[in-house]
Amino acid sequence: MLRTLPSKFLKLITISLIGIALTLTIGACEHLSQFLPVASPTATPTEPATVSPAAGSTFVELPALPYAYNALEPYIDAQTMEIHHSKHHAAYVNKLNEVIQQYPDLQTQTVVSLLQSLESLPEEIRSTVRNNGGGHLNHSMFWQIMAPNSGGTPSGELATALDQTFGSFDAFKQQFNQAGAGQFGSGWVWLAMNPQGQLQIVTTSNQDSPILENLYPILGNDVWEHAYYLQYQNRRPEYLDRWWNVVNWPEVERRFAQAQELQQQLAS
Ligand SMILES: [Fe+2]
Repeated sequence: MLRTLPSKFLKLITISLIGIALTLTIGACEHLSQFLPVASPTATPTEPATVSPAAGSTFVELPALPYAYNALEPYIDAQTMEIHHSKHHAAYVNKLNEVIQQYPDLQTQTVVSLLQSLESLPEEIRSTVRNNGGGHLNHSMFWQIMAPNSGGTPSGELATALDQTFGSFDAFKQQFNQAGAGQFGSGWVWLAMNPQGQLQIVTTSNQDSPILENLYPILGNDVWEHAYYLQYQNRRPEYLDRWWNVVNWPEVERRFAQAQELQQQLAS
């Protein structure tokens, strides 16, 4: 059903993203203009460095974390964060660069536009772009919607919308955790907005982004084992439950406002 939703919503997302990229004027980072402005890194002695893509491949770059690897402890351990960011996310970046390097015509596109037009890509690279472009997009958001000394509850219009949609913030968290725990195998659990402006909880497999289903991702948790296994082993529900302690609500609220803006443009 979701695939039948109007493509105008996606077009608006694309237009908005281009606008964000131009506003930020971040040069080589233009291709990172998915749904996120790049946050200013916090300088700390243990801050992870940006990992450069393979030589000659500059389509996308691995963004530096805006906090140290150990900043989310005790909820997410430093080793998990380091491997997750500098190995897993870096692998998505490098693989995407490797494949796009072979197709110069695609280098002017953004990751979002590639994902929105998968069917038009050469068949031999379609799944690679889907998996690694999605992996890059999803993780770029993931690092931003978490922060040390955060958690708590959302405020403003997002809090109201969650109450209206799910009954209460606690009920939302419970449904979100349930969906995340029930995702079979690797994937993500999301709070997303549909083109009608409604919030919904969805899951995606592998590294699929909600934008493949015309949904705007507002908040997402990574339920691949690489996100939690070192600390939580097979206890994914415990990871899901404790993860709320590191959610960066101001960033999530910003994404919600952005989604609302796009939806209102669609409705007007
Ligand atoms: Fe991940």
